Amino acid sequence: MTVTLLAFAASLRTSSLNRRLLHAAVEIARQKGAQVDVAEFHEFDMPLYDGDLQVREGIPVGAQELARRLQAADGLLLASPEYNFSIPGTLKNAIDWLSRIRPLPFKGKSALLLSTSTGLVGGNRGLWVLRVPLEMLGMHVYPDMYSLASGDKAMDPGGFPVDAAARLRLEAVIGGYLDTAVRLHG
Ligand SMILES: Cc1cc2nc3c(=O)[nH]c(=O)nc-3n(C[C@H](O)[C@H](O)[C@H](O)COP(=O)(O)O)c2cc1C
Repeated sequence: MTVTLLAFAASLRTSSLNRRLLHAAVEIARQKGAQVDVAEFHEFDMPLYDGDLQVREGIPVGAQELARRLQAADGLLLASPEYNFSIPGTLKNAIDWLSRIRPLPFKGKSALLLSTSTGLVGGNRGLWVLRVPLEMLGMHVYPDMYSLASGDKAMDPGGFPVDAAARLRLEAVIGGYLDTAVRLHG
């Protein structure tokens, strides 16, 4: 069975470190047989959640597009920055809009969470916070997560960790997630 994934980095920055890491992860996932739809977070631009706006105009186009792309996949490869030890507001806003859609776009999907930051924890604290709404909304979030410290120095231009052990671990986490996804979605 071929696992299909939606992949994006939850950063809007042109030179995002998380986008670079995501691209390496996508390359590895493809080498391991996954079919990956790579998106830019900007493709899902949407206003701040406002219940009145939802009543007046319905679900914004950007949120509908994210839901459509997620629904077309088995799982999600998501690289997210850590902002103030937590989820970037932009990503939480997108999760909140999608949580208003029925059927729930996250339900039954799997996810592998990645992060990198300029700091020494690599954004890992933010991923622990990110798991909570995703799991609450019915996602199978893979227990292992990947965080790369000092991302501004630790990646080559393609996003691959320069340290051999860190690169092997990235490959192992993706391999483990894909094995689980085959069992889950097959
Ligand atoms: C609002 C804001 C909050 C941040 N908070 C943290 C933090 O809590 N921990 C951390 O390691 N880095 C933090 N950073 C630094 C980011 O990890 C760094 O800017 C990173 O490059 C952002 O990801 P990106 O390159 O994919 O955009 C913060 C950056 C911003 C803009």
